[in-house]
Amino acid sequence: MMNIAVAQSGGPTCAINASLVGVFRESLKVSDIDAIFGSVNGIEGIINNHLVDLKSMILSNNDMELLRQTPSTVLGSCRYKLPDWKDDEAVYQKIVENLRQRNIGAFFYIGGNDSMDTVNKLSEYFRTIDFDVKVIGIPKTIDNDLCITDHTPGFGSAAKYVATTMHEITRDSIVYSIPSVTIVEIMGRHAGWLTASSAVLHAMGETAPHLIYVPEVKFSLENFLSDVRQEMSKHKAVIVAVSEGIEVPEGVQSGVVDNFGHKYLSGIGKYLEEIVRNEIGCKVRSIELNVMQRCSAHISSRTDIDEAEAIGAAGVRLAIKGETGKVMVFKRKHDMPYTIVIESADASCIANQEKLLPSEYINSNGNNIRSFALDYFMPLIQGDLSLIKENGIPKHFAIHESVLK
Ligand code: F6P
Repeated sequence: MMNIAVAQSGGPTCAINASLVGVFRESLKVSDIDAIFGSVNGIEGIINNHLVDLKSMILSNNDMELLRQTPSTVLGSCRYKLPDWKDDEAVYQKIVENLRQRNIGAFFYIGGNDSMDTVNKLSEYFRTIDFDVKVIGIPKTIDNDLCITDHTPGFGSAAKYVATTMHEITRDSIVYSIPSVTIVEIMGRHAGWLTASSAVLHAMGETAPHLIYVPEVKFSLENFLSDVRQEMSKHKAVIVAVSEGIEVPEGVQSGVVDNFGHKYLSGIGKYLEEIVRNEIGCKVRSIELNVMQRCSAHISSRTDIDEAEAIGAAGVRLAIKGETGKVMVFKRKHDMPYTIVIESADASCIANQEKLLPSEYINSNGNNIRSFALDYFMPLIQGDLSLIKENGIPKHFAIHESVLK
C-alpha cells in the first residue's frame, strides 16, 4: 500500500479543481492507494509538511461535482521555483523526508510551464538518489502556452469567457450615436492564444473585435492609431482586443516580477486608452478582463472541465504503470468531429518552454485573426455545466481557511 499527494500551482483557472477531482476519483479505484494527501500552496506544502487528508474532506460525488464547478485552486497555489539540486540540496532533502514520512509513492503536480520545471527537477533528483516516488505533471493554464499538448485545461473556459464578454461588450458599445473606441485587455503573458480566441465572434457574423493585437506581432503605436482611424471610418463603435503581453514602453507596467522572473503584466489597455483620447479625441474606454477571465466558472466550458478531469485521471494511471518525470498531454485527432487522445511527454521537453500562437493564424496586417484559425478554438469552448446553485448563485467547494493557513 502507498499514499499519494497532489498539489496545484501557478495562476488559477476554472479547470484546476476538475483535474484534482480526476486524480482523486481515479485514485479511489486503485486498491494499492490508501491516503490521498493535498499539498497546501503547491510544492510549498510538501516542503513545509503542510498536507491535508483529502478523503476526509471530499466526502461524496456531490462534493466532487461542486469541486468541478469551483474556480481557482482549492488547495491554494504558489509561484515557487525549485533551485538546482546541485546548488541547494537542502530543500530536496526536506521534500524527500516529508514524502518518506507519509509513505507517498506518487506526486501529481497540476500546473503550467513553470510548475513542469518542478516536475522535471524533482523526478531527476529522485532518480539520482534512487528514491522511488513517481512524479507526474498535469497541465493547466489559461495562457495555453505549453509545448507538445494541443491545448491546456483551463484555456477553453477562459476563451469562452473572453468571447462571451466581448460579445456583451459589443452590444453595450454600440448604443450611442457618437463614435467610440473600446479597448479590452486580455491575459496570456507572451502568448496570444487567449486574445485570439475573441475572434470566435466573427463566426457569429460579428465584425467585432475589429482589431486584435497579440504579442507574437511587434506592436507599433503608429500602426495602431492608423488601424483605429481606419476602423472608425467603417464602424461607429470600434472594439479592440489587446493582449497584456504586447511590447510597451518602460513604466506602463509595474516592473514587479515573480519568482520565475515573469513581469506582472497589466495596464496596456489604460495606456492605449490615453493615447486614443489624446491623439484621436473620441469617446474611449478600456476594460481589463483581469482575474475574471480565469475564475468565471459560471460560464466554463464543459469540454474543458471534462477534459481536465480526464487528464488528471490519466496521470494516476500512468504513475501506477511505473512512469515518472512525465507530463500528460492532449493530441488532437480531428477538429470536426472533435476528437482527442491523452498521451504523455517528458517533463524536460515542456518545462520553461512557451508555445506561441502560430503565425499563420494572424492576418497579413498583424491586427486580426484569420477565419480558419477558429476551427482550433471552437471545439474547446463547447458545452455547459449544469451548475448546482444556492440563493440563485453557483455553489463552491471550499476548504476552511484555518486548515489552509
Ligand atoms: O499564467 C497565468 C496568468 O493568469 C497570466 O495570464 C497572467 O499574466 C499571470 O498569470 C498573472 O499572474 P498572477 O496571478 O501571479 O498575478
